[in-house]
Amino acid sequence: MLDNLGDWKRTHSCGELRLEHVGRTATLMGWVARRRDFGPLTFIDLRDREGITQIVCDAEKAPDAHARAKDVRNEYVIAVRGPVVARAPSQRNPKIATGDVELHADEIRILNDARTPPFQIEPAPNEPLASEELRLRYRYLDLRRAQLQANLRLRHRVIAEIRRYMDEQGFTEIETPILIKSTPEGARDYIVPSRLHPGKFYALPQSPQLFKQLCMIAGLDKYYQIARCFRDEDLRADRQPEFTQLDIEMSFITPEDIYRLIEGLFQRVFQLIDVELPVPFPRLPYAEVVQRFGTDKPDLRFGMELRDLRSAVEGTTFAPFAAVLEEGGEIKGIVVSGGAGYSRKTLDELQQFVKRYGASALAWIKLGDEISSSLLRALGEEGVKRLAEAAKAERGDAVLIVAGPAKTVAASLGALREEVARREGLIDASRFAPLWVVDFPMFEYNEEDGRYYAMHHPFTSPIDEDLPLLERAVEGGETALLGRLRAKAYDPVINGVELASGSIRIHRRDVQRLIFKALGLTEDEARRRFGFFLDALEYGTPPHGGIAPGIDRLMMLLVGTDNIRDVIAFPKTASAVDLMIDAPSEVDPRLLDELHIRVVRE
Ligand code: AMO
Repeated sequence: MLDNLGDWKRTHSCGELRLEHVGRTATLMGWVARRRDFGPLTFIDLRDREGITQIVCDAEKAPDAHARAKDVRNEYVIAVRGPVVARAPSQRNPKIATGDVELHADEIRILNDARTPPFQIEPAPNEPLASEELRLRYRYLDLRRAQLQANLRLRHRVIAEIRRYMDEQGFTEIETPILIKSTPEGARDYIVPSRLHPGKFYALPQSPQLFKQLCMIAGLDKYYQIARCFRDEDLRADRQPEFTQLDIEMSFITPEDIYRLIEGLFQRVFQLIDVELPVPFPRLPYAEVVQRFGTDKPDLRFGMELRDLRSAVEGTTFAPFAAVLEEGGEIKGIVVSGGAGYSRKTLDELQQFVKRYGASALAWIKLGDEISSSLLRALGEEGVKRLAEAAKAERGDAVLIVAGPAKTVAASLGALREEVARREGLIDASRFAPLWVVDFPMFEYNEEDGRYYAMHHPFTSPIDEDLPLLERAVEGGETALLGRLRAKAYDPVINGVELASGSIRIHRRDVQRLIFKALGLTEDEARRRFGFFLDALEYGTPPHGGIAPGIDRLMMLLVGTDNIRDVIAFPKTASAVDLMIDAPSEVDPRLLDELHIRVVRE
């Protein structure tokens, strides 16, 4: 039998009662987190979004309430009324905010029952959570966990703070459409068939990039939007097929305006978790960070920089190194302080690790009481010593070395640097180390299809001095010059996470035409895909630029998780599935008919 709520009103939340409330009558409502039955006494932990309060049902003092408590099971929804009582000092629970008091139930109303949940919602501290798959299937139960509730509430506060800040800075929030045409962020589009226009499709925005630039052409200036973006791409731990950006664009600006705006914004947001970010953020050129850290999103909380070891093996007859030198590749190493103690097993694991990033092998030197090295036979003791010296390694250290094409060395050693730092406990989780990566190249050459791709997106402006190079590359046929073009682009990175990406845009029609051409887009193709935008560029486009921080990534840093699903209420799995609602799913064949779509199964 269920009870009605009747005219009861909550007087307090389940996280609110303290010693100062003792003696008052309170009415609490929430979910039963736990019920313990001790004969004449029954204890209930009552939970709502604010916390947990202990309810005591005493058979002698309130027999009806005690009897009602017997019917209660986990996750039942109940209302309880009674006096707030101080717990005996020995009974106090410092682990919960309400642990000094308890509510003695005079009356209990069971507002709803609940099936036994498929998993323990809040397992004991030393017990693991249920499998993520099961929790995602029943996300509404998983969301009852205090940690997820806290994450979502912080997300709300972050977004509220962002809106306050952007408003203070004179920005206007403008919504742009979701049903649009393909956008150029480099992933696949999600497409939506049109019923009214058979055979035609909308695309969901990968970002509002062109619309925000159109807002600048429209003279709206200082635009922002908390924008949902959709990308059909291979997912990783920090990616979702739909995610949220703080999308920003401004007119008549230089990168300095963006740096100041974003540093101020991040400062305000990090203050919400009591972290004071030091500003201005250091600025490091792309080429330098790749040299030193093997990645364009370096974690600056620890050192262990990549050391160039080529000089130590010059003229070597050791075939693998000689071949790399000959082909213009790189030989680099990192020095692990105390690594001389690494076991065979650890070195084997690290070897496997770098292979995942394309490295053919991991060479090592251990500077223990004696020198040992995988290169001893190949290079001799002198040769190994020279390498260790070039790496500036000291007694007790290990040097981990990769040789190969520059890209492979950077990718594998960059990842190894982070892996070793994690293993060695070198990362201070309470620190935040921001930087701007600047001076990006405009284009990246892809060996596989032998062409250049935009490193950011095709609307990013080259630096003014490089415009003549662009003309020579495109009109003069000196294509290789494209690799030398520098972009007015900048990415803020914190603790190895690329939080945003932005640039000053192209505002001249002639420059935009050259960039499309450089990317191998014919006039026709460019018109077909971006004709509306190319036309708009001809009607008085102001110089403009912007940036887009990823809010989910920002939230991951703020709550300290490496799983993006921890900061999104209803996320999708790594294979882009919503397990709870079962999407994607098949649709009614009549609907497909209406959309003029036939599904072909292989
Ligand atoms: P970009 O594609 O670099 O730039 O995206 C900007 C930021 O959005 C976040 N992000 C993602 N977060 C979660 N899941 C994803 N799949 C995902 N993809 C990107 C990252 C990233 O830094 N229009 C440009 C911005 C601009 O030039 O103003 C753009 O979208 O934090």
